[in-house]
Amino acid sequence: MAQRTLARYLTEEQRTKGLIPADLKFLIEVVARACQAISVAIGKGSLGGVLGEAGSDNVQGEAQKKLDVLSNEILLEANEWGGHLAAMASEEMDLPHLVPHRFPKGEYLLTFDPLDGSSNIDVNVSIGTIFSVLKCPEGADLSSPEAAEQAFLQPGSAQVAAGYAVYGPNTLLVLTVGDGVVVFTLDREQGQFILTQENVRIPAETKEFAINMSNQRFWEAPVKRYVDEMVAGKTGPLGKDYNMRWIASMVADVHRIMSRGGIFMYPMDEKVRDKGGKLRLMYEANPMAFLVEQAGGAATTGRERILDIQPAKLHQRVPVILGSKVEVERVTGYHAD
Ligand code: AHG
Ligand code: MN
Ligand code: MN
Repeated sequence: MAQRTLARYLTEEQRTKGLIPADLKFLIEVVARACQAISVAIGKGSLGGVLGEAGSDNVQGEAQKKLDVLSNEILLEANEWGGHLAAMASEEMDLPHLVPHRFPKGEYLLTFDPLDGSSNIDVNVSIGTIFSVLKCPEGADLSSPEAAEQAFLQPGSAQVAAGYAVYGPNTLLVLTVGDGVVVFTLDREQGQFILTQENVRIPAETKEFAINMSNQRFWEAPVKRYVDEMVAGKTGPLGKDYNMRWIASMVADVHRIMSRGGIFMYPMDEKVRDKGGKLRLMYEANPMAFLVEQAGGAATTGRERILDIQPAKLHQRVPVILGSKVEVERVTGYHAD
């Protein structure tokens, strides 16, 4: 059978289900092309001079790597001219980026974490890009970047598409348009993303968890209890032995869960309490929660469904617990106890 490229998948989804208007199809293809360009830059590593510190801090007060800045620029430049977007927002930028006046404006909003897993860049471990697409509300005030923030403050359940690219041994694009989750693999010779998996399903149960154990003393009681129970193994209350993985690139940890199940937690802890959590709602939690739910998993803060959160600000942070449904429900239940 002929290979199904990303373009073909999107065209056929539109033809059979009417889910992807032409502008959204174009948007997703442009984001995919930007991810291809980021993948090429990453692939060059030291030879391309892309590793190391940028020498600046982002709005979150985090030191930026050269690749954080470069990936952000690639995504902005790729997306500003096409006429499909009203504005973009990024983890690396203080305020939304409006489409310059010389270009037409479209009806979508794009948010992204241009480079996820920054601490892994310089050690050659998998990193990624995460993105989310919203409809721009009618009559939204786009007169200034400050005014435009309001248009983005929509719950994750309003997303029309979300995805991530993982730059690992293979470069993959994992996508949902609200009709399940599909995976494309980058064919580097052809320069095309080829569909390699449809109908991704996260097993409901798991024996694998992902959490940064060094934060254990800062966790809240429900997460402490749950991790203690998992570590207790077969003779503990959960009656089975668990394995642990922590890559410290959310993209790579989530992709493992997409592939074979598991639970990922960056829960509330005392170190991050005043910030609201570690991970960012608009750039990390919402797109990943949409993908995980579309694959049959669940995503909560421990207290509420992530996709139900009404954002109060663009750079809002939240606790994140996601993955295999039975386990996410168990630890969410512990929070209710
Ligand atoms: P980013 O590189 O975009 O700032 O995101 C890093 C995030 C996430 O990818 C990962 O799960 C987590 O931070 C790792 O945090 P720790 O270093 O605290 O483990
Ligand atoms: Mn990130
Ligand atoms: Mn990032």
